[in-house]
Amino acid sequence: MANVRLHQLTRRFSAGAAAVENISFEVPDGQFCVLVGPSGCGKSTILRMIAGLESPTAGEIYIAGQNVNDQSARDRDVAMVFQNYALYPHMTVAENLAFGLKMRHVEPAKIQQRVATVAEALELSHLLGRKPKQLSGGQQQRVALGRAIARQPQVFLLDEPLSNLDAQLRDDTRIELKRLHQQVGITTLYVTHDQTEAMTLADQIVVLSQGRIQQIGTPQQIYQTPANQMVATFLGNPAMNLLHSTYKAGIFYFKGHSIPCPSHLQTLLNKTQSQIVNIGIRPEFIQVVSAPAEGTLTVTVEVVEPLGRETLIRAVLTSEPSQTLNLVIKGSFTPAIGERISIRPDLSKLTIFDPQTGDCLR
Ligand SMILES: Nc1ncnc2c1ncn2[C@@H]1O[C@H](COP(=O)(O)OP(=O)(O)OP(=O)(O)O)[C@@H](O)[C@H]1O
Ligand SMILES: [Mg+2]
Repeated sequence: MANVRLHQLTRRFSAGAAAVENISFEVPDGQFCVLVGPSGCGKSTILRMIAGLESPTAGEIYIAGQNVNDQSARDRDVAMVFQNYALYPHMTVAENLAFGLKMRHVEPAKIQQRVATVAEALELSHLLGRKPKQLSGGQQQRVALGRAIARQPQVFLLDEPLSNLDAQLRDDTRIELKRLHQQVGITTLYVTHDQTEAMTLADQIVVLSQGRIQQIGTPQQIYQTPANQMVATFLGNPAMNLLHSTYKAGIFYFKGHSIPCPSHLQTLLNKTQSQIVNIGIRPEFIQVVSAPAEGTLTVTVEVVEPLGRETLIRAVLTSEPSQTLNLVIKGSFTPAIGERISIRPDLSKLTIFDPQTGDCLR
């Protein structure tokens, strides 16, 4: 096992903007680190550089304290599962799973035992004799994951390893991965678009946008104290609401609406007479109340999505400019479309952002 440290890593493919720019962070030994960010932000490029499949334009990569920039991929003792899981087509599932171990001259009995354990954990036991082309996409993806797990490398690099699985299998495999990580504790860098995977698997989340790090922290830190609007709206589903407002003497004003500013934010804002801010409030921190009162807003219901355990509501606060809010209401709640309802945001949970820079004001 080993820690992974990236120091000012940059990758430029052409003369334009870098695909990955000045990335520095460390994944301590045994930690599970999740990389998230919109498509094209550089996640796969970072993993490929750590694996040795792509050369950095600048910066250093350290594995177990050793600079591996000049080391070939095969000498790095990392196992990577690609977004497009490349299996050996002429080998059976069992042979694919055993391949990395064979290459490292592990004893046959031990190989057999490890292949059996991994196959069972990933529900592949009944497929061991098949070739990749006789498998579904999700089964192939699990073989690719199993091949990496069976090898027990120093570092796992997993690029959306569960993306082709159906919801149930995805949940099961995620839990299996977490259990395996708790048992074996191999240092892992994991790329995903899935919120649940990011929040439940990560010891540390790295949020990227346009090749740059936006924030690094535990899932709780990222969720509760986002560094900027990009992070705030990227993690959380439905996303955090952002409302454009003018602050004046203890009150946030929207067009035709207002709510009091809580005292913890007043001290931040009272430095100036009047200020434009974006207010962030998570959907789950807004309550529906029976009548308008101080601290409530009146909104118009636009979409209602009953999910059983909770109801998602999309509601319009102002139409010019268009400002809508997502609400998550526990249980069943079925207002009519177009109905006016009163809502009360939990003022202690407000976050404010500078609309110019997008940075959180604290
Ligand atoms: N070989 C290449 N040549 C030129 N540009 C590339 C190459 N590989 C990646 N890029 C560009 O670098 C950027 C980062 O790509 P990367 O594959 O790392 O994104 P990603 O975060 O993994 O996205 P996704 O979530 O869609 O997989 C993109 O703009 C991509 O077009
Ligand atoms: Mg990718």
